[in-house]
Amino acid sequence: MRRGGALAEFHDLAPAEESFRDAVLAGLTRRAKSIPCRFLYDARGSALFEAICELPEYYLTRTEMAILGEFAPEMAAEAGRHAQLIEFGSGASRKVRLLLEALEEPAAYVAIDISRELLRQAADEVAAEFPQVPVVAVCADYLQPLRLPPLPARGEGRRLGFFPGSTVGNFTPEDAVDFLAGCRRVIGRGGALLIGVDLKKDPALLDAAYNDSAGVTAAFNLNLLERINRELDADFDLDRFAHEAFYNAAAGRIEIYIRSRADQIVTVAGRAIRFAAGERIHTEDSCKYTIGEFQRLAARGGFRPGPHWTDRDALFSVHLLEAG
Ligand code: AVJ
Repeated sequence: MRRGGALAEFHDLAPAEESFRDAVLAGLTRRAKSIPCRFLYDARGSALFEAICELPEYYLTRTEMAILGEFAPEMAAEAGRHAQLIEFGSGASRKVRLLLEALEEPAAYVAIDISRELLRQAADEVAAEFPQVPVVAVCADYLQPLRLPPLPARGEGRRLGFFPGSTVGNFTPEDAVDFLAGCRRVIGRGGALLIGVDLKKDPALLDAAYNDSAGVTAAFNLNLLERINRELDADFDLDRFAHEAFYNAAAGRIEIYIRSRADQIVTVAGRAIRFAAGERIHTEDSCKYTIGEFQRLAARGGFRPGPHWTDRDALFSVHLLEAG
């Protein structure tokens, strides 16, 4: 194992493999059909999501990158020298590079992700790109209680959690509070969390971001049915289902569904699943917050709101939350 060299230190906490089959059958045999949104991200779904991030209508990724690019020095000043940067769900570790460039002599970059090979590759790339930074890759499910290995430390440096992308919006507010409390435990007293949160705005902009004109979001959503066909020996006819996404203003969230265009019966893993015409499968929610709403949510998760940064159109926000 090398630290501060060309390779990341790798820890495999052996996250439990979830059964896609059990989750799909349970979700499709409920009265209100639904499948958890994490199953949207198989290899093809992840590639389609990357394409979503490039869409003109999908302002989230580019706006968050711009905020990080512009304000990373301020964020780094808040973190202080010798911080241990811990990312929950690091994926390709793209956004974190903007922080690593700004942080003063970080003690460590800890990348946590459930996707083993993506993690290994991304962590090694960061290690090669930032040879002075010890990189620790932890293969784990960050939604489960997490025990980190002993981390490289320097002086009085504190822990800085990082959770970009407004992924927090995919939780219900109640689950978001639980997730934040879990982060709080990992970060510990005296640490902080830097978190990206999509903001409430003109519903027309929100609707467009999840109903892009090129149909990439529709393909991303309907890929779930293709994945079920591929992996669970199912016979969904893609022409008989439609992508549906809209902003529910009362609930403050984008709701995403797959709608059946006809009365039909589909076979999934040997089971017959009936769809009425117009019946929907709920596939994702994406909650939007005002600055104040998110600060109150963070407080319920055990954090004291610190500074926050937004773009000039107030589309997106990045919050620094202090672990009391
Ligand atoms: C990456 C989970 C934040 O909710 O905007 C994008 C996922 N779904 N388009 C979001 C998503 C449809 C995205 N998150």
